[in-house]
Amino acid sequence: MFDTMKNVIGFVLLLTAALAQDAPETLDERNQHPDVGLNTIQMIQRQEYPVEEHINIQTPDGYLLDMHRIPHGKNNAGQTNKPVAFVMHGLLSSSADWVNMGSEKSIAYQLADEGYDVWMGNARGNTWSRKHIILNPNRDSDFWDFSWHEIGSIDLPTMIDYVLRVTGRQQVFYIGHSQGTTAFWVMLSERPEYNDKIRLMVALAPIAYMSNLTNPFFQLLAMFHNTLEWIFSFIGIDEFLPNTNLFGLIGQIACNDESFVQGLCASVFFLIGGWNSAQLNQSMIPVITTNTPAGAATKQMIHYAQGISSGHFRKYDYGLILNLIRYGSLSPPAYEIANIRAPVGLFYSANDWLAAVVDVHQFANQLPNLALQYLVPDPRFNHLDYLFAIDVRPLCYDRALALMRQFA
Ligand SMILES: *[C@@H]1O[C@H](CO)[C@@H](O)[C@H](O)[C@H]1NC(C)=O
Ligand SMILES: *[C@@H]1O[C@H](CO)[C@@H](O)[C@H](O)[C@H]1NC(C)=O
Repeated sequence: MFDTMKNVIGFVLLLTAALAQDAPETLDERNQHPDVGLNTIQMIQRQEYPVEEHINIQTPDGYLLDMHRIPHGKNNAGQTNKPVAFVMHGLLSSSADWVNMGSEKSIAYQLADEGYDVWMGNARGNTWSRKHIILNPNRDSDFWDFSWHEIGSIDLPTMIDYVLRVTGRQQVFYIGHSQGTTAFWVMLSERPEYNDKIRLMVALAPIAYMSNLTNPFFQLLAMFHNTLEWIFSFIGIDEFLPNTNLFGLIGQIACNDESFVQGLCASVFFLIGGWNSAQLNQSMIPVITTNTPAGAATKQMIHYAQGISSGHFRKYDYGLILNLIRYGSLSPPAYEIANIRAPVGLFYSANDWLAAVVDVHQFANQLPNLALQYLVPDPRFNHLDYLFAIDVRPLCYDRALALMRQFA
């Protein structure tokens, strides 16, 4: 409880301090990290890795998705017929998650140097995939009528099929973080024919059951999800935390190395991810906030809140009558975990405020084909450390790549 209060107070102080500061032009730029202000493609280029942009990959329901690819690493350009590593970001994130800590840390570079052809997805509604053949995300509420159910059952199959077509491969290695794992479970539950297209699933901070999560923000959301859904729809908030300049600005002003509130700035990350100041390099926060939050539908948040509150891993709850019309039952149907037959490696940690250890164990017990259950050997490792931790390679990625080699 004390930690929770500390986080909330830190967050409020941070916002106040950020808003009270001068405009960014007056910032001392000497200490600014060169990746501040760069997007996924520009960051990869700055690291001198090859990068491709594949744009407007169309889903059957008209969304246009962008993917980013690192086709090879620094020393294996000539190698042909590479295995594909398909990586999928979490809630409010984007392809930037896999590259923004630079080539010494981020997993996309490690995978490319290990000989993988790396493809980074972007879910509908984020900075890159905020477009549709007919609907306008700025005007049409219908654009935002989706949760991670649609990301899993429509976006992932569309992107995987695209990657298999372009590369001529039969299967991908799938690596997901947080919502990138939730959407994967949905995909195989709803469309079990995709099991054959998955060589191995590496799940970082896996999320299915959520009733034991300890994140105060999500606990509040769960407590009030019915009211919130009503309020959001009444005042028309369909889009949740888009990547406006505000967050980038707050990140750059409040989190730069000379800012006296940098410590508080880190609290925002702890509020989301859990408490572990040792593994977050605070100098990197302005880089991270350049591209994150990247936007999501309010319905994604509400769908998670429903799962926290119900204890079930199941489809979106529309209320009794609409459930009856849509699903033919008063409560939404559960996802079919028995359909997830592809091999799965679960990477989880004791200090993860979103993927609680007991919830991961409950899910692991139901998975038909568990290849590895790996508790990160640092009791303070948190939800965002899977992307940003200083020691993420020795603590997590090295084990993930070793597992992938077993499935080569
Ligand atoms: C996890 O949540 C479930 C459902 O609310 C509850 O029954 C169980 O006691 C919780 N487990 C722990 C270890 O808190
Ligand atoms: C933190 O990030 C800065 C800027 O990239 C870098 O110079 C420094 O070495 C990093 N510290 C650690 C412990 O990784």
